[in-house]
Parts: sequence; C-alpha cells; structure tokens
Amino acid sequence: MAAARALQLSLLRLLLLPPLLLALLPSPAGALWPQPQAQSFPPGGGRCPVLARRFRFAVADGSAVGPGCAVLDAAFQRYWPLLFGRTTENEPSWETPCTKLLVYVSTPGCDGFPSLDSSESYKLSVSKGSMLLSAETIWGALRGELHFPQGIPTLPYYINETEIVDFPRFPHRGLLLDTSRHYLPLKAILETLDVMAYNKFNVFHWHIVDDPSFPYESSTFPELSRQGAFNAMTHVYTASDVRSVIEYARLRGIRVIAEFDTPGHTLSWGPGAPGLLTPCYIGKAPSGVYGPINPIVNSTYQFVTSFFQEVSTVFPDFFLHLGGDEVDFTCWQSNPEIRAFMAETGLGEDYKKLESFYIQRLLDIVSSLGKGYIVWQEVFDNDVKLRPDTIIHVWKENNLQYLNEMANVTRAGYRALLSAPWYLNRISYGQDWIEAYNVEPLNFEGSPEQKALVIGGEACMWGEYVDVTNLTPRLWPRGGAVAERLWSNETVKDVQDAYARLAEFRCTLLGRGVQAQPLYVGYCDHEFGGV
Ligand SMILES: *[C@@H]1O[C@H](CO)[C@@H](O)[C@H](O)[C@H]1NC(C)=O
Ligand SMILES: *[C@@H]1O[C@H](CO)[C@@H](O)[C@H](O)[C@H]1NC(C)=O
Ligand SMILES: *[C@@H]1O[C@H](CO)[C@@H](O)[C@H](O)[C@H]1NC(C)=O
Ligand SMILES: *[C@@H]1O[C@H](CO)[C@@H](O)[C@H](O)[C@H]1NC(C)=O
Repeated sequence: MAAARALQLSLLRLLLLPPLLLALLPSPAGALWPQPQAQSFPPGGGRCPVLARRFRFAVADGSAVGPGCAVLDAAFQRYWPLLFGRTTENEPSWETPCTKLLVYVSTPGCDGFPSLDSSESYKLSVSKGSMLLSAETIWGALRGELHFPQGIPTLPYYINETEIVDFPRFPHRGLLLDTSRHYLPLKAILETLDVMAYNKFNVFHWHIVDDPSFPYESSTFPELSRQGAFNAMTHVYTASDVRSVIEYARLRGIRVIAEFDTPGHTLSWGPGAPGLLTPCYIGKAPSGVYGPINPIVNSTYQFVTSFFQEVSTVFPDFFLHLGGDEVDFTCWQSNPEIRAFMAETGLGEDYKKLESFYIQRLLDIVSSLGKGYIVWQEVFDNDVKLRPDTIIHVWKENNLQYLNEMANVTRAGYRALLSAPWYLNRISYGQDWIEAYNVEPLNFEGSPEQKALVIGGEACMWGEYVDVTNLTPRLWPRGGAVAERLWSNETVKDVQDAYARLAEFRCTLLGRGVQAQPLYVGYCDHEFGGV
C-alpha cells in the first residue's frame, strides 16, 4: 500500500509541477550529481580561480598510495579534459594559489579490484591555497575527483571554498546491460562504464547471454558462441574483450558481475552443447523444441561444473549472478523421462522442487569454486533451499508489491537488491525519471536489521528494443535518477532541486560527448555535436 501511495504521489507531482517553470529554473553552475552527503561553505568563504593550463593533480605527503598507481594515474589523465572542457585559449595568465589538487589515500592497495566491502568515502576540502582530496581507498578517491569543480562552463574556472564529506548510502549501485537480445559493441559498453562512473554507479551487471544469442566466447566450450552467437565472428565477446571490460571498469572503481542465467533463458546454449537442454515432447514424441536445462542427467552437472570453473576465473568479482528467473515448467512436464525421475525421487508433480533440485546443485558447485552468488527472486519465491549468504534480486513489479517482497526476503534473513521499479528500458511520455527518483527502497514494514540487509539496487536496460542506436539516450540522464537514489541521503528527494541539478548534469554529459536525452524544454551552452 505504501508503494501504491508513493506512485500516486509521484504521478501527482508529475502533473502538478509546472513544467515550464521547471525548465526555466536557473541551473546552478557546478551543482553536484549525485548530491553529496554533506557540503558546507565556510562563512565569508570566497572562490579561487583555477587555471586549466597550470592545474595538476599530485599525491599528498604521507599518502599510502603514491605516484605510479595505475588507477590514480589513469584517473588524473582522464579527469583533466573532463574538468576543463575543450579549450584553454584566452585563459588569463595571472598567478593563482589553486593550482594543485593533492590526493591522500590512507589504505595501501592499487592493483586489486573493488568489492562490496570497499570504502568509497572521501572528503574534499578547498580553501584558498590548498585543495585536498582524502579517501580511505583509491576507490573513494575516484568517487571524489570528479566533483572538482564539476563542469563550470566559462573561463576562467573558479572553485568555491568548500568542504564535501561524502559516502554512499548503499554499497551496491548497479546497472544491467543485456547483450543477448541485441549485441552491444565493445565500445558502447566502455562508454557506458564512463558515464556510470560520472554517476557513481559501481557495479556493471553484465547479462551477457540469454535465449536469443550467446555472444560470450568460452575457452572450454567454444562451440557455445560458434553456434549460439548471432554471428560467431562479429557478434562475440572474445577473452580479450572481456578482459578489456573488466580492466576499464576497475580503473573506474566499477565491479563487473557476469550473469549466466540458468536453467531457463538458455535456448542459445543448446546448439553448442548437445544434450544440455530438455527435449520437449508432444504426446510420445519429441517435438524438436527444447526447454530449460535438463536437470536429471549427470552430464548436465559435469558441463555446469566445467563451465562455471571457467567463468569464475575469468570474472574476478566474488559474486556471480546465477539468474534462476522465469523457468517454464511445461517442457519438463511434457518429457516422460523427467516425469519418471520425479516419480522415482518423490518429487511428484511439484516442478518447483525440480527447479530447486537443480539450483541447489548449481549453488553447491559455484560455492565450491569459492564464489558468492546473486539470484533473481523466483529462486526465493519457489522455496529453493539457499545458503544464508545468498543475495536475492527483486525484479517483479507485481502490482507494486515489490516492497513487500523486499520485506519478505529480508525477514527471511537474506540480503536484497532492488530493480523492480528501475527498468529503464520501459519508457513513457513525459518525465518518467521522476517515478524512478521517487522510489524509496526501504519503504517497507520491517526491523532496522531487515533494512540493513538491503545492499542497494540496479537500474536495468533489457535489450528487446534497445541496441547501440538508442542505448545511450535511453540510459542517460534517466539512469542518474537511480544513481542518486542509491548514493545520496534518503532526505535528498526534492524533485524541483533534482530537476535543476540533473538538467545541469545532463549538459555536462553533452560536453563530455555523451548523447544524453533532454529532460524537458531548454538548452545547454554546449549542445551535443559541438554547437
Ligand atoms: C559558488 O559560490 C557562488 C557565490 O556564493 C554561488 O553563486 C555558486 O552557486 C557557488 N557554486 C557552487 C558550485 O557551489
Ligand atoms: C549419476 O550420478 C549419480 C551420483 O554420482 C550416480 O549414482 C548415478 O549412477 C549416475 N547416473 C548415471 C546414469 O550415470
Ligand atoms: C510475502 O509473504 C507473505 C506471507 O508469507 C505472503 O502472503 C505475501 O504474498 C508475500 N509477498 C510477496 C510480494 O510475495
Ligand atoms: C541523512 O540526513 C539526515 C537529516 O539531515 C541525518 O539526520 C542523517 O544522519 C543522514 N544520514 C546519514 C547516513 O548521514
């Protein structure tokens, strides 16, 4: 009910806000997106001119991470053009004390990967003559750097004296891309990772294969993509592509969590893995059509073991996403061998138990490989016996009952991720980002312990109607609404204020060459394509 009310309110707001007024509010130059946890301006504080040509980053004395750290070096190189835009011509030549941003990191470590437990907090202090960014980890330093001074459009640049103390509200802030329904070129994935970093997203959930195609090139089972990709030469991700994605993401403090969804959503696996899928029957004869993975033959588990052995070494993150959604039982029901197996093993007619039989063995295999796992909510709904450390991913809107599902999942003691209200592939006329923005993930009945089990959420971009032509405008700036909800304090929910900051941020994105669509009527100083 709470959720239904939230939606009504959001619709109401959408209608009541005079859109023209929204568009004409001045965009606060340098406004921050997502909003930091705390920002203060010292009383009587001034501003300091920053000259692009002289500006540099430097490692502060005593920092546990020094020059030569690839993550920081690459960030310094990336950020300069982002901060100062395209031109330093006509820059005044006077002296300014604000030439150097010092970066201090208290915990050593540069070569590793970010994880669910990584600290992302940072502090940015700017006073006349001293600019210091301090963080516990390099990942926190990455989160802080781009706040400096976010996209002030005209020369010379100024930065206000200010102090920002910032940290994320939720540790898992993800974006799902689906590369099975349409193949997304590597470049589109890398560009998306850039914009994710601007939004402080920290998880790329790679829904890499599904029914329509299998673009992942497996070294153990090369036939999977040879037979299952749309085109085995051009529409595949090679081992080197996958490594590029993982390293590109790491340099931006983003985790890559791959999803290999089973036992359903696996049609494209069939041609390259004979005997893996269940033959469906019409009457007494196989129909030639295949269903979910066949859970009753030993060869399935041999295959799954070898396949996930490979996957768990290719993807360094502790977590794999194992899917488990929308398993269609009709094919299993039609198959006489499966019915006989069910009768023999006492499963009777309960196909949820058969699914559970498969998933439990899969979870055992994956945890014996030293990995943790995330599964879609059906695995929980169907009473599969789960390890207590499983993360349940809530995706069904279910007449706005998704918050009750969050309550149920956390009451059972599992950690939860929310995606149900954040399917960015769904579009509607008007400012539909507001609906995503107004979602409050903890707005369910539950104890503080339950709320603490919500580790975050993910925006999803399913690929039925999305390929590289429309991916970027559909993602941005709408994805930013989810990013701020997951990063900022729960009290940051003023839609008018968010509109002004998001519109400004979208202009910043255009300046960075990102084809982000407009929120409403208005203009940017620099339009996409160089106007
Ligand atoms: C900087 O300070 C000026 C003057 O107080 C103010 O108008 C401007 O909005 C501030 N900019 C930022 C990014 O806070
Ligand atoms: C499948 O494996 C189980 C347990 O390892 C074994 O008992 C059974 O005989 C095997 N079935 C076949 C057909 O090999
Ligand atoms: C949550 O659990 C209750 C009690 O078992 C059940 O009645 C309800 O349908 C569940 N809610 C959802 C959204 O699954
Ligand atoms: C969020 O903001 C409220 C109100 O300013 C404050 O009481 C609360 O401590 C903040 N939460 C965090 C985690 O800082």
